Amino acid sequence: MYNLLKGKKGIIFGALDSNSIAWKVAERAHEEGAVFVLTNAPIAMRMGEINELAKKTNSQVIPADATSMEDLENLVEKSLEILGGKIDFVLHSIGMSVNVRKGLHYTNSNYEFTAKGWDVSALSFHRVMHVLYNKKAMNEWGSIVALSYMAAQRVFPDYNDMADNKAFLESVARSFGYFFGRDFKVRVNTISQSPTPTTAGTGVKGFGGFLAYAEKMSPLGNATALECADYTITLFSDLTKKVTLQNLFHDGGFSNMGISDVIMENFNKE
Ligand SMILES: NC(=O)c1ccc[n+]([C@@H]2O[C@H](COP(=O)([O-])OP(=O)(O)OC[C@H]3O[C@@H](n4cnc5c(N)ncnc54)[C@H](O)[C@@H]3O)[C@@H](O)[C@H]2O)c1
Repeated sequence: MYNLLKGKKGIIFGALDSNSIAWKVAERAHEEGAVFVLTNAPIAMRMGEINELAKKTNSQVIPADATSMEDLENLVEKSLEILGGKIDFVLHSIGMSVNVRKGLHYTNSNYEFTAKGWDVSALSFHRVMHVLYNKKAMNEWGSIVALSYMAAQRVFPDYNDMADNKAFLESVARSFGYFFGRDFKVRVNTISQSPTPTTAGTGVKGFGGFLAYAEKMSPLGNATALECADYTITLFSDLTKKVTLQNLFHDGGFSNMGISDVIMENFNKE
């Protein structure tokens, strides 16, 4: 390990179980010398798995529903106390669509479900930054990262309204990132990650087939959750101070591919 986050303090949202991308980020941040608070929606903590991660990484857990300003204010205030100072990094690793969960087709969306989905998946990122900004909770040269997916730019039919939520999320990163950069020298980016077998990922219809397709389209293969965590650590470190307002593809090259030899073989048989 490289001590890339030695002395840095953070908040990590979204570690549900050991498959979660946020779980791997927490493990890697701990290995790199950071101290942090773990948080998730109170309902997601019922299984108690997050306590295992907290023990392993020597961190405290503060429940917060990312759609509640009251919860987020409490989270940030308590984190500043627990960590004994301002925050250097924040990971937003939160996504959920009720339309996807209920199996509603995109052409037949229920708009209450749609609104809940964008509240949890995108507006929550604005809320988190709103609270951090107003409480002046971030240190200079801090880093805020949210996780996204390429359906924000291109059509993946089964990704449903999560595509719109991710477009919203990426836009919030740029818009709020401007003010965070201007006023606090804090950077804000999204990482657009490969399909990854987690609870949120496997909830998308046809996920297994899509995972295999993306693997064969990408010259370097799909990026794993651990590799995503490694990339996130670089964005939290001092080695990427001037990277901001970006949507950064972490996908083994998938996003710039048109076709690969392996996929083409299936069509060259006639
Ligand atoms: N898995 C993939 O294929 C993939 C690909 C690209 C991007 N992402 C994104 O990565 C992020 C993390 O997802 P993951 O794949 O690790 O899955 P995951 O299911 O492990 O994590 C999603 C997290 O969101 C949390 N959450 C849901 N509602 C919440 C709320 N109201 N308040 C606070 N937290 C809430 C859940 O409890 C869970 O911990 C998401 O933004 C997801 O869209 C995932």
